[in-house]
Amino acid sequence: MAAPVTEWVNVTDDQFIVAQQSGEVWLHVPNGSSPAGNPFARPMTGAGSPGSTINLLDAAINLGFSKIEKRAAHPEPNLVGYIVALVGAYHTSVDTPRNLRRAAKRFEDLGRPEVAAYLEERAREETGHDRLALKDLRALGVPGERLVANFIPAGLKPLCQRFDDLCAQDYPIGSIGYSYCLERIAALKGQADIEKVQAICPAGVDATRFLRSHSALGSEASHVAETIEFVASLPADDRIAVVRETYQSAAIMAEGYNRELLKSEAEMMEEIDQALGTELWGDARASAAQAGTHPASMTL
Ligand SMILES: [Fe+2]
Ligand SMILES: [Fe+2]
Repeated sequence: MAAPVTEWVNVTDDQFIVAQQSGEVWLHVPNGSSPAGNPFARPMTGAGSPGSTINLLDAAINLGFSKIEKRAAHPEPNLVGYIVALVGAYHTSVDTPRNLRRAAKRFEDLGRPEVAAYLEERAREETGHDRLALKDLRALGVPGERLVANFIPAGLKPLCQRFDDLCAQDYPIGSIGYSYCLERIAALKGQADIEKVQAICPAGVDATRFLRSHSALGSEASHVAETIEFVASLPADDRIAVVRETYQSAAIMAEGYNRELLKSEAEMMEEIDQALGTELWGDARASAAQAGTHPASMTL
């Protein structure tokens, strides 16, 4: 009988994630620098298994997110923050198919048709998702095209840049780690999260198209499952690179959240107004303030 699979990856100089096929996973921090004292000093070379690979990937996300501030991890939803999130959703989606196809082409040239086919499939699945965010913005009475053309939330820029850079690399395997990170986090959102957002939107407005499709209710859960199967089938060097990038992307995302999600509504509104060159919802804001209602409901 084959021995159960153990996989490990050093995600930072002194932090190793170790995962077993049985589902056990732990963080190994070697004591001292002697390689003899560290059974995981040499990179893994064996085959992967879905049971261990999922835990490596998820532990990488958790580690990357370990520096997120509590308040940013569980923000109280508000409509202005949701608009900023939709702008972010647009920017993380708009170039995805083109970027993934670029990476696929590279793997085709490198003689790795199975990786190219996987990335092509992802590119097809992600096509049109930027439009969902624009439709949601429009539903909220926000001129979405104008806003996204002039505004990319500062905390999100490094993440978007990261994906562009990964897909342009000579060996763009890290693009899979980045995508896993984003899709896995999206797939954690469920019905209750969608209802929370619906509750802050004006009654009768459907502004959760993007959120629904990027949640456990949409296609993300199956994307995540397919990615785990695929990553587990890759050679050890590729799995190591994917897990490291999953960690890096999560760390960049957490830093961005710390920056964006702690802003006040007034600060966010100011950024939106500046990008639009005019006050969002214009006069409705003043009348709403007087009437004690939400400006969005008066513009729709
Ligand atoms: Fe998407
Ligand atoms: Fe997806």
